[in-house]
Amino acid sequence: MYYIGVDLGTSAVKLLLMDGGGAVRGVVSRSYPLSFPHPGWSEQNPEDWLRAVLDGIAALTAGIDKTQVAGIGVGGQMHGLVALDREDRVLRPAILWNDGRTAAETDWLNEKIGKKTLSARTANIAFAGFTAPKLLWMRAHEPELYARIDKIMLPKDYINYMLSGVHCTDYSDASGTLLLDVEHRCWSAAMLADCGVDPAWMPRLYESYEAVGTLLPARAAALGLPADVRIAAGAGDNAAAAVGTGTVGDGRCNISLGTSGTIFISSSRFGVDSHNALHSFDHADGGYHLMGCMLSAASCNKWWQEEILGGGDYAGEEAGIDPAGLGRSHVYWLPYLMGERSPHNDPAARAAFIGMTMDTTRAQMTQAVLEGVAFGIRDSLEVARSLGLTITRSTICGGGAKSALWRRICANVLNLTLDTVAAEEGPGYGGAILAAVACGAFPSVAAAAGALVRVRDSIAPEPKLAAAYEQRYQVFRSLYPALKPLFGALAQ
Ligand code: XUL
Repeated sequence: MYYIGVDLGTSAVKLLLMDGGGAVRGVVSRSYPLSFPHPGWSEQNPEDWLRAVLDGIAALTAGIDKTQVAGIGVGGQMHGLVALDREDRVLRPAILWNDGRTAAETDWLNEKIGKKTLSARTANIAFAGFTAPKLLWMRAHEPELYARIDKIMLPKDYINYMLSGVHCTDYSDASGTLLLDVEHRCWSAAMLADCGVDPAWMPRLYESYEAVGTLLPARAAALGLPADVRIAAGAGDNAAAAVGTGTVGDGRCNISLGTSGTIFISSSRFGVDSHNALHSFDHADGGYHLMGCMLSAASCNKWWQEEILGGGDYAGEEAGIDPAGLGRSHVYWLPYLMGERSPHNDPAARAAFIGMTMDTTRAQMTQAVLEGVAFGIRDSLEVARSLGLTITRSTICGGGAKSALWRRICANVLNLTLDTVAAEEGPGYGGAILAAVACGAFPSVAAAAGALVRVRDSIAPEPKLAAAYEQRYQVFRSLYPALKPLFGALAQ
């Protein structure tokens, strides 16, 4: 049997074909546009996602026995608001997870409803990227469109709806709406009421590994696939990546260096960070997790390599970095190109290089970008450590993790042993695993991950280098508070 895993990302959709033994038999990727209509805003057209997914499935299954395709599981970029009218037309471009337009709505939620009440209802406070503030923004700024809403859903749920006709979501992704009672796995009636959301707009909730239905007959015919291909509810991309890296059950950690940078700690028990700096969300294995999310991770390097240096020769630029200079550079990068979520919760934060002198080289600035992202992840790791969590080891995945140098920097900045797994497509592999469970090939997500996920490579921190980075980190962490008073003025 084959299972298709889909990673609906921000720069592209990546699809993979997994066989029943867990081997990846094919991978395809299709990109789509991302627009920034104002500084700090971020949108995409859901119809572009759908076209890319359908085209990707056709390419992925072109040379195989299609009767053997049993299931599809999607892991998707979280929090994005997709709103449909009664005819299932997309009302406006999706407002994405890294969009910072909702500062006023986020403040209203955190101050008027209050962080304590929000946390009691949803296990989280409001962050600009979450879905509820986006709905409030749409109600205030686009009342005619808001009045036409018939269904709301998250990005991957739009794909599942278009594939299966079922208006559904899963608990991990729903956690990032600020409308879910994460502990009890149901929509929060109080949050829906306070945000003016009609409960009839909300998708039905499923566990990630449950089948929501099968391919619509017309879709199956167009794709040449069997009509009984099961569609798993799927997961938010971080929960899917956690499944794909074996980060299930209790106390495991996964770091993702994608467009965003996340640190994900799995747990079988519900728990909330008392300051709500980390998100407390449901996991795709039926449990829970804590997560810190920085808004710009591998995207900092993409911006630096492609927009600023030009050429996009990532490996060539990295090759110029002197290994003896690791942990010793005086140049710092603050990775806040889209503001910052964890732990600062500040959409007005902005990126900065600091510490250059006349002899600073291009390679040192590239090094600063890689280090600045690692320091940003460390900020969230510190919050986890302050909660008493002992983390000494983690998997690492995402486009940035393909760089051995970046993995080494992360291992030493974080003082963690970092494992990479054999199937490097984290969320896509997780999506395929969820599809396999939804098809009954495994009794649970934990059983499937235990049977299929294999560690390929590990890198341990080097005591001297980790100590050098410890000093650098103490400087890094003093930079945001020092610059914060200026960020408001920069936005004027
Ligand atoms: C998580 C988050 C990001 C997106 C990226 O809270 O906002 O990791 O899911 O796709």
